[in-house]
Amino acid sequence: MFMNFRRIRKCQCVQLVTTCFILSIVMVCWEQLDNNVVSHMKSYSYRYLVNSYNFINKSFAISRQDADSLSSYPYLINHRHKCAERDVLLLLFVKTSPENVKRRRAIRSTWGNETYIRQELGASVRVVFALGVHPDPQQRDGAQRALLREDRRHRDLVQQDFVDTFHNLTVKLLLQFRWAHTYCSHARFFMSADDDVFVHMPNLVRYLRDMDQKGVRDFWIGRVHRGAPPIRRKDSKYYVPYEMYKWSSYPDYTAGAGYVVSGDVAAKIYQASLTLNSSLYIDDVFMGICANAMGVSPQEHVYFSGEGKAPYHPCIYDKMMTSHGHVNDIHDLWKAATSVEVQNVSSGLLGRLYCTAVRAALLCKPYYVDTYPCKSAFL
Ligand SMILES: *[C@@H]1O[C@H](CO)[C@@H](O)[C@H](O)[C@H]1NC(C)=O
Ligand SMILES: *[C@@H]1O[C@H](CO)[C@@H](O)[C@H](O)[C@H]1NC(C)=O
Ligand SMILES: *[C@@H]1O[C@H](CO)[C@@H](O)[C@H](O)[C@H]1NC(C)=O
Ligand SMILES: *[C@@H]1O[C@H](CO)[C@@H](O)[C@H](O)[C@H]1NC(C)=O
Ligand SMILES: *[C@@H]1O[C@H](CO)[C@@H](O)[C@H](O)[C@H]1NC(C)=O
Repeated sequence: MFMNFRRIRKCQCVQLVTTCFILSIVMVCWEQLDNNVVSHMKSYSYRYLVNSYNFINKSFAISRQDADSLSSYPYLINHRHKCAERDVLLLLFVKTSPENVKRRRAIRSTWGNETYIRQELGASVRVVFALGVHPDPQQRDGAQRALLREDRRHRDLVQQDFVDTFHNLTVKLLLQFRWAHTYCSHARFFMSADDDVFVHMPNLVRYLRDMDQKGVRDFWIGRVHRGAPPIRRKDSKYYVPYEMYKWSSYPDYTAGAGYVVSGDVAAKIYQASLTLNSSLYIDDVFMGICANAMGVSPQEHVYFSGEGKAPYHPCIYDKMMTSHGHVNDIHDLWKAATSVEVQNVSSGLLGRLYCTAVRAALLCKPYYVDTYPCKSAFL
């Protein structure tokens, strides 16, 4: 009786697994099936069952000349010696646009203040802004003069002669890796961030120093997207046509809001970009394709935000690396996040218990925007 029961259970289990497997294969192969749920199921099936993105190397490979013509725009503003110092812990590129003057000003006076980072944290970090030219030809000359004035004061803009639009974000990505390769290949780490991202610089510097001491290589962290499907809805900002990417899932990549790679990975990405077709305009996905071609895969860091603001609380500031969507609150957040109270709030056993409880209450709420996952409360 007992034996029989076990056998039946085993049979059922095998059946179930087989059915799931066949279903997944059908979904991966059947291109007609398409809506949001199905496309996610298809892409996850692909990611977790097949998980080989070898086709990318072949299908994206192009000649060096062709790759060059897609990405080599001349510099309009440049600072060749910005990174000349021998010992650079981090080269941080902020992706910005000509009109975002206020955001740049806010970053310079808060988390991106190189002087503060040197004096208070004793670290050598280079913060550089990457941009193209104003998209409106009518405003371009005026905007360019303003940029030159801004740059004379701060000497931290790197601009190439391409139109600064959403669909040219991959061009901006290649600018960053090319510049890093040419002028800053000795930096231990490289980071790329949006201009509405808040970076908790003291936490980040502490973490990267630690990683540096361990001598990490093949290091790539951020908020990881695994098995994300290409968006096929024409009304979406992230729409990608079949001709551009025909498979049902992207290789793993980190959200473009903010990610960090070690120097060796930055070099590999640059090498890959020299022979890949960069017409795919979703920049973080293209970065994932370059990494895939070089056999590098990303690791999740739970306190990197893909989208969404972190909750305001000292127990969160104690751990946060990046938080997304900050424009007007950036000064207040910087003050609060770097205050002395934050350093003390989680000290001692009681402090740690208190902070775990607070973080669990803030991050594990149902329907909470997934800035940091619930599990990060307990790490
Ligand atoms: C092709 O892609 C795979 C990952 O899918 C990677 O491990 C391999 O190194 C790549 N090969 C070449 C020649 O780029
Ligand atoms: C940067 O930090 C230094 C030292 O803390 C400070 O003196 C300076 O005013 C800051 N710069 C800006 C633009 O806020
Ligand atoms: C990207 O920039 C190039 C060079 O300025 C321009 O010719 C092209 O139209 C831009 N592409 C998009 C999609 O804006
Ligand atoms: C790059 O890919 C696009 C489609 O995404 C294609 O139209 C273009 O011809 C390709 N470029 C080269 C040089 O193969
Ligand atoms: C933080 O803790 C230290 C001792 O661990 C104490 O000397 C200091 O006064 C505390 N600071 C604040 C602002 O509570």
